[in-house]
Amino acid sequence: MKVTVVGAGNVGATCADVIAQKELANEVILVDIKENYAEGKALDIWQTAPVKMYDTRIKGSTNDYSKTADSEVVVITSGLPRKPGMSRDDLISTNAGIVKSVTENIIRYSPKAKIIVVSNPLDVMTYCAYLAAKVDSKRVFGMAGILDTARYRAFLAEALNCSPKDIQAVLMGGHGDTMVPLPRYTTVAGIPVTELIAKDKLDAIIERTKKGGGEIVNMLGTSAWYAPGASAAQMVEAIVRDQKRIFPVCALLNGEYGHKGIYLGVPVKLGKNGIEEIIELKLNEEETKLLNASAKAVKEVMDVLDNMNKVVAK
Ligand code: NAI
Ligand code: 2OP
Repeated sequence: MKVTVVGAGNVGATCADVIAQKELANEVILVDIKENYAEGKALDIWQTAPVKMYDTRIKGSTNDYSKTADSEVVVITSGLPRKPGMSRDDLISTNAGIVKSVTENIIRYSPKAKIIVVSNPLDVMTYCAYLAAKVDSKRVFGMAGILDTARYRAFLAEALNCSPKDIQAVLMGGHGDTMVPLPRYTTVAGIPVTELIAKDKLDAIIERTKKGGGEIVNMLGTSAWYAPGASAAQMVEAIVRDQKRIFPVCALLNGEYGHKGIYLGVPVKLGKNGIEEIIELKLNEEETKLLNASAKAVKEVMDVLDNMNKVVAK
């Protein structure tokens, strides 16, 4: 079983490292456009195998997609990251070109692959990969919800002084400031979170979660990679081990939650076929309003991409 990660930068290399350590594949191929960059990162990661005691073989490639042939899963992390003062949407034109060409190369050599997009702006780059791949949308989806939920869970664990393992939560919507954390669906070992924390504290955690990516960009001058890389690897694991895990994933909606033809974060079941089910929660009026606002924000950026494509097609 082969897994490919495109983009050997911060997120891609971290994701490949986690996949290898967890032995999720026999072979991991790391691809980058920068000469020898993926080869160098892959060599360094491979040299941890005798120390960390795993067998997965990891190899790098400078833009040679023949080495990715017959990958079961491909993670796309290629593209520019945010710098301070930039929104994820500022990355659209550069990253759309990169995601499109990478996806075409991937599909040429791995027509059956499941594709996980990580590049930003996430929801729209996932749509871009879907347009380029021309395959069933159940096989093209994006990673953001696991990361955003992980941030929310980590902040809650800190506030409650409890293990993050015991916090279950779901967060919906686009990967941006309009994301929709759902306190009604947040529990601590089965106990509704609202019974354990004051409303003002929970509201502050929700606000911090929405800006969680920006908080790190402001500290580091570039975006996060440990949690994003591990989150994408968790999706790879659910697919290659056919775990049928339920995660918030950026998926193409076809009428679910009242939306059609838009990629948005929703709870799904992930297994060997990719998205095996989109789970429809019974949202209340307030939650529906927030989700619709988030969908509107994503749609505006999708329209930018559609208009760019029209200009290119002329
Ligand atoms: P990075 O700059 O460290 O790595 C990106 C890599 O992509 C570079 O090595 C670059 O050479 C490579 N690349 C560029 N064009 C390419 C092409 N055509 N083919 C192959 N490789 C190419 O950036 P980082 O921090 O790894 O972030 C990657 C992307 O992931 C960014 O767009 C960032 O905004 C996004 N991101 C998304 C998150 C999410 O939750 N969805 C979380 C964190 C980052
Ligand atoms: C993050 O949320 C910037 O999308 C990136 O860390």
